[in-house]
Amino acid sequence: MGITFRKETFRDDYTFRNSPEHIRRFPFPFNEDAYMYAVNIEPHVVGPKGSVLENLIDVDEHYVAEMQDRALVLAEDPLRCQSLPHMTLAGWDLLELLMEQQALGYPEHFTLERNGDRWRWINRPLGIDDTFTFGDTSTLPYGPMEYITRQSQGDFCILDQRDGNLWMDAGMVTTQADWSLDFDIGMNFFEWHAPVPLAHEKGIFTRALKFLTNIQQGKPARRLNWTMTINPRLDTSPENYHKWGPDRATVTPENVGQKVHLRVELQSFWRLPRSNAIVFPIRCYLIKMDELVTQPKWARRLHRVIRDLPEDLATYKGLTRYRPTLVEWLSKLDDVSSTSPGF
Ligand code: HEM
Repeated sequence: MGITFRKETFRDDYTFRNSPEHIRRFPFPFNEDAYMYAVNIEPHVVGPKGSVLENLIDVDEHYVAEMQDRALVLAEDPLRCQSLPHMTLAGWDLLELLMEQQALGYPEHFTLERNGDRWRWINRPLGIDDTFTFGDTSTLPYGPMEYITRQSQGDFCILDQRDGNLWMDAGMVTTQADWSLDFDIGMNFFEWHAPVPLAHEKGIFTRALKFLTNIQQGKPARRLNWTMTINPRLDTSPENYHKWGPDRATVTPENVGQKVHLRVELQSFWRLPRSNAIVFPIRCYLIKMDELVTQPKWARRLHRVIRDLPEDLATYKGLTRYRPTLVEWLSKLDDVSSTSPGF
C-alpha cells in the first residue's frame, strides 16, 4: 500500500502533524539518560520494517508538503541551492542515487526506466514524468542536483575530496538548523565545523574526517544529530533568523507541548561513483512534545538529557531561553527516583 501524503504547512499556520504510526517510527536519538558529542558513526544498512531505516533513503507522509516548502524557500532565496562548476558530475551521481533508491523503496510512487543514456523518471506524488539524457544538463529543467533534490526529502551537501580534506562545493540546503550554505560554500571540514563547541578539543572532527575520506562506494554510513525548534518550522536558517529567532521567547508552561519540537537529523554519508565526491543527506524529523510524550520512556529520558545538558551545548543549540520551562514541564512525566532502563 502506498503512503498517504499529508496536506500541511511548516510556516504561518503550522498545520504539520505526525500520524500515530509516524510518532512510533520517530528516530528518538538518545540511548542513555545523558548526551555528549561523540563519533557516533555506524554502517548505513537497512533496519526493521516500519522504521525510518526500512529504506536507505526514507520517504514519508510529509514528502509532498516538504517539497512544497522547499519550492517556497527557493523562490525567495535561490542561493539555498549552489553548485560550483566542477561539481556537475557529482550532481549526476546524486541524481542516479536518489532516483534508484526512491524507485527501489517506493515502486508505487516512483519509477525509473533506463534505455542507455535515455532515462525516464516518473514521480507520481509530484505529478512529474520526464525523459532526459543522462549527463546532458540541457535535457533537464534544472541542473541535475537541483532537479533531483527538489524531489527528495532532506538537505544535501556534496563534498569534493582533495588534499586529504572534504570541501563543501555544492548543496541544496533549505531545512537546516541555523547554518548557511551560502556562508559555508567552498569551506573545508574543519572550517564549516568551527562554531561547534567542545568537539574540536575532543578530537572528534579529526577522527570523523579520517573515517569519511575512507568511505567506499556501496558502503554508506550514518549518524544521528539533534536540536530543538520552536514551531514545526523546517527553514530555520540564519538568513531568516528574524522570522523564527523571536519564537524562542514565546514558550510558556501552557504551550510547551504544542510549540517545542525535537528535531532529529538522520545524516548519511555516501561515496559517489564517477566524481569520487561524498554526498551528505541530512534528513530532518520533527516531533512536538505532546506527540513525543505519548511514549513515556522517551519523555523520561528527554527530561534527563535536557536537564543535564552541558551549558555550552545548550547555548550552541539555542535552548537557553526556554530550557527551564521545558525541563519543568517534562519533570512532571519523570519519576526522577527511578533509573531509566536502556532501550
Ligand atoms: C554541526 C556539516 C559530518 C559532527 C555541523 C554544521 C554543519 C555540519 C554545517 C553546523 C555548524 C555551524 O554551527 O555553523 C557537516 C557535513 C558533514 C558533517 C557537511 C559531512 C561531510 C559530521 C560528522 C560528525 C559531525 C561525521 C561527527 C562524527 C557535528 C557536530 C555538530 C555539527 C557534533 C554540532 C551539532 C549540534 O550540536 O547540533 N555539521 N557535518 N559532523 N557536526 Fe557536522
